[in-house]
Amino acid sequence: MARDKTLIVGNWKMNLNMHEASLYVHQLAKLVKNRRDVEVVLAPTALTLQSLSLQVNYRQFKLAAQNFYWRDQGAYTGEISASQLRGVVQYALVGHSERRHVFHESDKDIRAKVQAAIRNQICPILCVGETASERADGETLDVIHDQLIGGLANVTSEEVEQIVIAYEPVWAISSGDGNGHNALPSDVKKVVAIIRNQIKHLYGSVAANNIRVLYGASVRADDAAAYLAIEGIDGLLVGGVSLDAYGFNEIVKKAHKGSSLAKNTEGGI
Ligand code: 13P
Repeated sequence: MARDKTLIVGNWKMNLNMHEASLYVHQLAKLVKNRRDVEVVLAPTALTLQSLSLQVNYRQFKLAAQNFYWRDQGAYTGEISASQLRGVVQYALVGHSERRHVFHESDKDIRAKVQAAIRNQICPILCVGETASERADGETLDVIHDQLIGGLANVTSEEVEQIVIAYEPVWAISSGDGNGHNALPSDVKKVVAIIRNQIKHLYGSVAANNIRVLYGASVRADDAAAYLAIEGIDGLLVGGVSLDAYGFNEIVKKAHKGSSLAKNTEGGI
């Protein structure tokens, strides 16, 4: 997967019913311009994926699942599999902090989901990030390390470049355990370097260079450019603001402009 496009993913979480989702995508479609250097991905609730897959122009928006079960079919009441999502979504979030902490998903579940996504030609966006207390205890590096090892076990070096890693510090997520205190770009830069180093250690420097890494937590239109300018960052995973068409479009616009800025320039917030 190429790093030449900036990836902007909107995670709607458990918001918007089918009617609202359709109206919202209609509004977004009028605002968001197709740009060759930006890929825009929408992650609505599972309920709306099928109808939105018929509504969106795939040159403008790709779709992502927020969650799925790792087995392909069977007696798993209430679940949706990656094989059922195949052809409907191009991406899927895996290991989002809300899945890890609210629904107690383990590294074993997350690893199985990464593999189910790959098996079904869906690009997994593996989310990693430390909680407020882990950060306070100086455990950020260890947590990221463990979540990467846990999520990527059994992924081959051919497969790893299809994966996107999203760094989402839980304490900086607007609904997270730190009430959305913003992460400084300098802190994000350190963790992105840790992520790429870990990939290098596991899969070599080509994979470490080629894998896409996103930042996500309380990103808004006015600070998106600063996060996009961090060395090693290929895009953003946006929560709350992805439900505001104007704010989200402003972020997409920054991604277009930002991608022409030097990747090595670190912005300030
Ligand atoms: P916010 O942008 O609302 O902080 O959410 C971040 C997030 O969890 C995206 O997946």
